[in-house]
Amino acid sequence: MCGIVAYIGEREAFPILIEGLRRLEYRGYDSAGIAVLNGGVQVYKKKGKVQDLVDHIGDLKLDATSGIGHTRWATHGKPDDKNAHPHTSGNERLALVHNGIIENYATLKEALTKLGHRFNTDTDTEVLVHLIEEYQSRDSIALEDAVHLAMNKVVGAYAMVVIDQDDPDKIVAARKSSPLLLGIGDDEFFIASDASPIISHTNKVVYLKDEELAVVNRDGSFSIKNIQNIPQNPEIKELDLKIEELEKGGYEHFMLKEVNQQAKTVKDAMRGRLNPIDGWVGLGGMGEYTERFVQADRLIIAACGTSWHSGLIGEYLIEDLAQLSVEVEYASEFRYRNPVIHQNEIVIGISQSGETADTLAALKYARDKGALLYGVVNVVGSSIARLTDAGSYIHAGPEIGVASTKAFTGQVTLLALLALTLAEKRGTISKSDLHRLMTELHDIPRKIDVVLQQDDAIRYIAEEIKDSNHALYLGRGYNFPVALEGALKMKEISYIHAEGYPAAEMKHGPIALIDENMPVVVIATNESAYEKIVSNVQEVKARKGRVIAIVQEGERAIREMADYSIEIPKTAEPFTPLLSVIPLQLLSYHAAVLRGCNVDQPRNLAKSVTVE
Ligand code: G6P
Repeated sequence: MCGIVAYIGEREAFPILIEGLRRLEYRGYDSAGIAVLNGGVQVYKKKGKVQDLVDHIGDLKLDATSGIGHTRWATHGKPDDKNAHPHTSGNERLALVHNGIIENYATLKEALTKLGHRFNTDTDTEVLVHLIEEYQSRDSIALEDAVHLAMNKVVGAYAMVVIDQDDPDKIVAARKSSPLLLGIGDDEFFIASDASPIISHTNKVVYLKDEELAVVNRDGSFSIKNIQNIPQNPEIKELDLKIEELEKGGYEHFMLKEVNQQAKTVKDAMRGRLNPIDGWVGLGGMGEYTERFVQADRLIIAACGTSWHSGLIGEYLIEDLAQLSVEVEYASEFRYRNPVIHQNEIVIGISQSGETADTLAALKYARDKGALLYGVVNVVGSSIARLTDAGSYIHAGPEIGVASTKAFTGQVTLLALLALTLAEKRGTISKSDLHRLMTELHDIPRKIDVVLQQDDAIRYIAEEIKDSNHALYLGRGYNFPVALEGALKMKEISYIHAEGYPAAEMKHGPIALIDENMPVVVIATNESAYEKIVSNVQEVKARKGRVIAIVQEGERAIREMADYSIEIPKTAEPFTPLLSVIPLQLLSYHAAVLRGCNVDQPRNLAKSVTVE
């Protein structure tokens, strides 16, 4: 949700900023802009993608060695050239990029207007740069001091980077809630919303903490202060990221690459955590808190989007196997409904990015209520990873396609490991069942590859349904959340309206929608309640619905009724979501490609949603 990049050093800034913006484009792609210091502040911005900005700049020679860049996901003000970042101060001395929302911008705007400031855009960000200008010119203070005063005045979330034409040898950056990293090169600095624009230049980074302000100087020095103006000792970390992980690697889209990586990423999520031969399962991240998990009265899972769906599967897994009560909450609802959280409960935040504002806020709320926080996160060093008391990374590597795929299966794998660990420690599973399930889970990556081999058949089905306006996804038990996830994938990238339902609920409403034009995707891989799902398929067929069934190998009854079916290898029922979701990811992918949609950057969406 908005990407920021900045550079100061000896090299030409423009190519570094543009390459950085391309890497960050998954965070928002309504408009893009840069500002460079070349005598004065020069700003170029354009509605649309980074490529539109590059075309707009054309052959202009931007001879500058420092600058800032931004790719936008609009919140305040429609996406157009005017509202694109960077924004400049009234005296045109400062240029600023911002990710987040300034909640008290209206009050500030009114006050600044009375002081003579004039605004040209509809954004909250423009108010921020005018506020900094006001402090700077009123008190004749350094840029960083003006930014510091502004930090104390604004309410909301921000990652911001500011340049000043009268002070061209430094860049000032600050953050609260939205992420920001400093990349430390040889006498050069990079600043970015995540590591992707930095890794091709340096692997040394400092993750700015909440309410910290950094000044990076052209002479290679830098300093960090907190909001109380107290100097901080920066912790320089080494990035464990390879540039190939950020490339498409021969695939047409990042999403397709990520879908196809899942045998590996699921294996990586299990690495060092499961050994069926020695009969061992455990999560190192639980560490000193293991006993609190074992004794907990309840787990509360807070998440959004796809991560919320994996949380639902976690609920089924943990309640079924470990007999421990689990509540799954939309993070955005949780914190605003005065929920009951007891001392003996643990709140688990699930997030691919580790930056989702609603999840972060829900976890902070739970911490204030005294809960122990556990993170299930993909992005190493992200805000949620740092906020939580303990946690486990899913090790899926960078996920760039906006529609989450490999993070989902990584999260479900992690939750399966958690369920097995707790089941063993709480004594709710027999040794033989535990061993059987450990062996089945361990074998999932091999079976994922078997499912992926059915890509051609899935593409064929996508061709058959690509012109539909609506689709229904039905599943039971462990596969009800998979129905939700399959429908979400279809909506997100192909813009076909799709709804996921528990199969049995169909007769309480959605059945009214079924006719010969309605594709109904039935995830029928459960062995329990199998007859019931057979009946559900009959009910759909009786109303002429077109059934696409996901079944286990060897299944007959549903295959015979369905218009199309896709087989997945047999596995233990709790782990079927790890296989049954894959055809649904591919179905939505192919439908989107066939409909000419932008798969990796679907309209209106952003991968990392850093506003509430
Ligand atoms: C956005 C993304 C989704 C994602 C959700 C939660 O809506 O488009 O793909 O599932 O945020 O993101 P998180 O990073 O917290 O898992």
